[in-house]
Amino acid sequence: MTAVPRYPLAIVGAGALGLHFAARLAGLGPVAVVARDAGRAAALRAGVMVGDAVFHPEAFGPDALPGADWVIVLVKAGDTAAAGRVARAMAPRGVLSLQNGLVEDGLRAVCGDVLVGQGITTEGAFRDGDRVQPSGAGETLLPPGFEAVAARLAAAGLSARVEPQIAAARLAKLLVNLAINPLAAIFRVRNGDLLEEGRRRVLEALVDEAWPLLRAEGLSLDLAAAQARVAAVARATAANRASMLQDVLAGRVTEIDAITGVLLGLADARGAAVPTHRAVFALVKLLEGGGVAGP
Ligand SMILES: NC(=O)c1ccc[n+]([C@@H]2O[C@H](COP(=O)([O-])OP(=O)(O)OC[C@H]3O[C@@H](n4cnc5c(N)ncnc54)[C@H](OP(=O)(O)O)[C@@H]3O)[C@@H](O)[C@H]2O)c1
Repeated sequence: MTAVPRYPLAIVGAGALGLHFAARLAGLGPVAVVARDAGRAAALRAGVMVGDAVFHPEAFGPDALPGADWVIVLVKAGDTAAAGRVARAMAPRGVLSLQNGLVEDGLRAVCGDVLVGQGITTEGAFRDGDRVQPSGAGETLLPPGFEAVAARLAAAGLSARVEPQIAAARLAKLLVNLAINPLAAIFRVRNGDLLEEGRRRVLEALVDEAWPLLRAEGLSLDLAAAQARVAAVARATAANRASMLQDVLAGRVTEIDAITGVLLGLADARGAAVPTHRAVFALVKLLEGGGVAGP
């Protein structure tokens, strides 16, 4: 009987970002990659292009999991609960999400007593057919308690550190995603085109409506800084197609529930009016269903 291996680190979610991180971390030592099923794990073990190199991940399906000291969750927000159950089954010291949206509570709900935290990352990667293409170096901020993971990411050459004010950083990232992602998907434009006069008014309305709610949750930016942050990100990522746009174009479910849906929940709890967010939420839900049929 072969002993079940135990890994220092595992990544649940063998998609764009998961494989990008795994390929970088594999240079340092063993990394387990958990795919959605055994078939996908076998295909990955045979090799996958990440950037210009073939990567042979140590890939597993959920039916034959190894143990792992630390687990990073990199599935889309709607798959968080299933991925969290997989992570827990590896008996880790901690489970770290680097997903977009606010998913920490949902992850904690399925991880029992294990340390759970959500960080943020501006690393970028996208799927191009079977290939994963890294699309730009960014910064990864982790919650306190995940120092060992931050050290491993940094040793792999990624810009990563523990951020004591991680809740405020998460809210600032949520603000950006709340404004840019749904509008890019609705207008079907690249991020920079959201700064064109007509679209920019809607972008600014989304920030105006979200800001008091996020501020009450601990966002540290004032309103002018919040507007400036969103415009700066749209400018810095002008040529990018936001992930929500990519999801809509590919007919996939988007992360709208974990992004705008979270804000609508905050608005309901406080009796706040967020009409522009309600409208974009409804529109993205329609687009998820394949768009509205013509007359
Ligand atoms: N890509 C980026 O540049 C970027 C940047 C910052 C943050 N993020 C965030 O990072 C997260 C992942 O994004 P991504 O772009 O890497 O998405 P992605 O390419 O769709 O990858 C997600 C992967 O998770 C797999 N998966 C789903 N459920 C699973 C489960 N229960 N167990 C194991 N694997 C499962 C999916 O498998 P299938 O293919 O079979 O569905 C897919 O391969 C998202 O929250 C995203 O917003 C992404």
